[in-house]
Amino acid sequence: MHAALAALGLRYPIFQAPMAGVSTPALAAAVCRAGALGALGLGASTAEGARRQLSEARSLEARVLHANGFCHPSPARDAGQEQAWIQHFESAFRAYGGLPPEALAPPYVPFQEDDALLAVVLEAKPEVVSFHFGLPREDQLAALKKAGILTLASVTCAEDAKAALDAGIGGLIAQGLEAGGHRSTFDREVDEGLCTAALLAQLRPLTERPLIAAGGVMRGQDLRSLLKGGADAVQLGTAFLLCPEAGTAPAYRARLSAHLAALQTGAIPADLEAGTVLTAALSGRPARGLQNEITARAGLLAAPPQPPYPIAYDLTKRLAALPAPDAAEAFGACWAGTGVGQLRALPATELVETLAREAGL
Ligand SMILES: Cc1cc2nc3c(=O)[nH]c(=O)nc-3n(C[C@H](O)[C@H](O)[C@H](O)COP(=O)(O)O)c2cc1C
Repeated sequence: MHAALAALGLRYPIFQAPMAGVSTPALAAAVCRAGALGALGLGASTAEGARRQLSEARSLEARVLHANGFCHPSPARDAGQEQAWIQHFESAFRAYGGLPPEALAPPYVPFQEDDALLAVVLEAKPEVVSFHFGLPREDQLAALKKAGILTLASVTCAEDAKAALDAGIGGLIAQGLEAGGHRSTFDREVDEGLCTAALLAQLRPLTERPLIAAGGVMRGQDLRSLLKGGADAVQLGTAFLLCPEAGTAPAYRARLSAHLAALQTGAIPADLEAGTVLTAALSGRPARGLQNEITARAGLLAAPPQPPYPIAYDLTKRLAALPAPDAAEAFGACWAGTGVGQLRALPATELVETLAREAGL
């Protein structure tokens, strides 16, 4: 194992992905008990919410912890654009038993603008802190490093990887196109769309710092081949979605289970994307998940320009929270990677042990 990861005392080079809204202290602790790295997705949390999650995870004896923040650019505000976006969905609000909001607001702020969150993290000292969508401020990164925390940045291409390495990041998470959830691509128009194995092959020669591969890993065999391809560890998100300890909402679990059944009976073709779509329609940034009303509408209707991430996400979250019983199913994000057809509903400790056994670790 890479010395920086061995120093964490992990039994296996397996990372549970931080997943805002889905990862829980109970999940992180169960993963940790099995000898892998448990994580908390704090990108959508307030500093106070983050403090609660970190302290609960420690009290559940998550000895080694990985916390994650979002470093997206601060969204440009355009009241006219936001109003047009609300109007575009007005009939959906009414059809599902609600009223459109008067205004939209970013549901959370980027890490670069949240020194209260930085202070909480520095106090709780998770052993690993990673960033999605970009990098923290130079002084924030320096403070984390000074506290002895291993810092990581999730990247989807060599250019972003070089920017992170130049900034002094401690290691990289190579996120391939198969991955569930948001693409971590820094602020750029062009997405090279590299699969996990291809991205790993491009990034390995760039650095000797820890390189963690993520995207489409559901079985120990997948894990093993990425380790052979040069990864120091492997990060899995989708694989944990049906664990009882995960915070996956009931409607989300039901959709995943129905999707799994449809893939198994052939009602949905088990092709490369396994019925998932990569779309910015829900939040304003590309993310992979199951189709829903919004992704289906996105291609059909002439829509006004979409407000940027995460303002657009505010509208989707409001639609998903409408009183109609099927609103969550119609509008809620069901992030999932292309490995969704291989989901296993196992307790997290058992899942990690199974993965390790299959990988021959
Ligand atoms: C439900 C869900 C939520 C996610 N949320 C985050 C997050 O908050 N922060 C983050 O860095 N990555 C997040 N990701 C991406 C993961 O870190 C990782 O790249 C991805 O899960 C790997 O692909 P896989 O889902 O095929 O295992 C999320 C993924 C999923 C499935």
